[in-house]
Amino acid sequence: MAKSPAASAAYDVARVRADFPLLSRTVYGKKLIFLDSAASAQKPRAVIDAVARCYENEYANVHRGVYYLSQKATDAFEAVREKMRAFLNANETREIVFVRNGTEGMNLVAQSWGASHLKAGDEIVLSTFEHHSNIVPWQMLRDRLGVVIKVVPMDEAGNFLLGEYEKLLSPKTKLVAVTHCSNVLGTITPVREIVRLAHRAGAKVLVDGCQAAPRLAVDVRDLDCDFYVVTGHKMYGPSGTGAVYAKAEILEAMPPWQGGGGMIRRVTFEKTEYAEIPYRFEAGTPHIAGTIGLGAALDYVRGLGLEAIERHEAALLDYATRRLSEINSVRLVGTAAEKSAILSFNIGEVHPHDVGTVLDREGVAVRVGHHCAQPLMDRLGLVAAVRASFGVYNTMADVDRLHDAVLKVQRFFA
Ligand code: ALA
Repeated sequence: MAKSPAASAAYDVARVRADFPLLSRTVYGKKLIFLDSAASAQKPRAVIDAVARCYENEYANVHRGVYYLSQKATDAFEAVREKMRAFLNANETREIVFVRNGTEGMNLVAQSWGASHLKAGDEIVLSTFEHHSNIVPWQMLRDRLGVVIKVVPMDEAGNFLLGEYEKLLSPKTKLVAVTHCSNVLGTITPVREIVRLAHRAGAKVLVDGCQAAPRLAVDVRDLDCDFYVVTGHKMYGPSGTGAVYAKAEILEAMPPWQGGGGMIRRVTFEKTEYAEIPYRFEAGTPHIAGTIGLGAALDYVRGLGLEAIERHEAALLDYATRRLSEINSVRLVGTAAEKSAILSFNIGEVHPHDVGTVLDREGVAVRVGHHCAQPLMDRLGLVAAVRASFGVYNTMADVDRLHDAVLKVQRFFA
């Protein structure tokens, strides 16, 4: 049996856990073991307090009022744009567009940039790993414009096949849209190389960073990607928040996609002049308090340090992989060379929903199903899988509890 490694001295996970009030609760009388951060992460006290403080003290609509409170709320809201710029290492704050989630980010790029820059016969390259949110918007565009979608294959372990990708690129390729981290397999894709090859072919690159941004230090200037999409709720921030990074010259050449208040300079019944970037893409009242909470989440994550988080999660992944591998009925799903702390598996022929139910009764929260990535599941020949995903607050003891609960499933069914 693998021995539980000692916690890293540099990373005090007990202190981190104390920041997350929800983690102290029980379910069915058992201590909660939360292993579903890839679906949505829990929130630290700093985020909860920032949202409450906004509503209690400085709430008003943003970008609209001249009065004191509206100005305070606008300043707090805009300060988050700068925090997000720094978090992603973008050049300018106007390269950060706030959206409500990653899905909305992908749809913004598809409907604004895609619809205005692509025509019939142009090619979009996706990868097998994509979440539905980075597939369906492009299919909608294909049905509207006649663009062609091509898909980069993966190997059995779940590695991105760079050589196969290179073969798909041609002068017809106008966009490569890939995830930075698979939400099912944890595979980290070679984004820098993907971008380099795409640019050589004359294509733009959109990176779905929803799973990567909470786990890896992201530097959009170093990656040189054209678009990078993040969602707030996986980064320990409130749901209903997120951002699209895009290079300023690309945003400047994009038409608005949703019309309404906040995105205009002047409206008459004859015509509308649009606001400058990024406001041109932010129609309607945004999630004001949520975005302010997202700012607190970015401060929190940066305070822990992305390198420290990466090391902590890598140790968890390594230990969890070893422990689950000790159980003979467990089949791991996804063993790529470059992986983040997302571990999918199946137990013999036991249906993943039954596994999820038994684990739940043990207090262990995991996601089961197709994980919004049905083409990936088809490629693997699976209808569903169990997924344990780790976050900043998970411990080696959580892994032991997962292991024991999985053993229990094996005893029941396998
Ligand atoms: N995209 C989220 C997941 O992977 C919801 O669970």
